Amino acid sequence: MSNDGINQGRRRFLTGATCVVGAVGVVGAAVPFVGSWNPSAKAKAAGAPVKANISKIEPGQMVTFEWRGKPVYVVRRTAESLKTLEGITEEVLRDPSSAKAKQPAYVGGTHRAMEGKEEYLVVVGLCTHLGCAPMYRPEVGAEDLSTSDTAWMGGFFCPCHGSKFDLSGRVFAGVPAPTNLDVPPYSYESDGVIVIGVDQEAG
Ligand code: FES
Repeated sequence: MSNDGINQGRRRFLTGATCVVGAVGVVGAAVPFVGSWNPSAKAKAAGAPVKANISKIEPGQMVTFEWRGKPVYVVRRTAESLKTLEGITEEVLRDPSSAKAKQPAYVGGTHRAMEGKEEYLVVVGLCTHLGCAPMYRPEVGAEDLSTSDTAWMGGFFCPCHGSKFDLSGRVFAGVPAPTNLDVPPYSYESDGVIVIGVDQEAG
């Protein structure tokens, strides 16, 4: 009888001890498990390429995707805005030919896009001054961004210190941002899907 009492007491203790160990085990396992709940987010943060469906972007609209923890803006430019870009005189831009810009060799010219895909602008949405997110301001003639001698032609406006960029992400002269918005490596998987982080193959 007395042995039973001891054994039961011991059993109770062992059960309690097992629970504690079990609880510690769960807490210990929780950290790596949380990480594995969302492996794609982890992989993206580490630099994995990101597929972006651009087929639903309307002309004139901008959609933001995330790549390496950074916003990437994809703008589907209208035919009028592409024409407006061609009319911007070089003197008003700090680096009109993007000589100092971070961009792949396969984007170029005024439109800073791949040949035949000029409609789509793909840029990193971080101001090259101190990294704020520039606002997409496509409205031509917007009063708050026009000056007495220059009407706003549509582009991006950084609210932190007032840098202005055109609809190709080229920085205007006389603002704090030193260079054009960066263009990340990207490629077309199909007409409606781009892969941000993978270079377009030559050819
Ligand atoms: S961070 Fe954009 S102007 Fe300073």
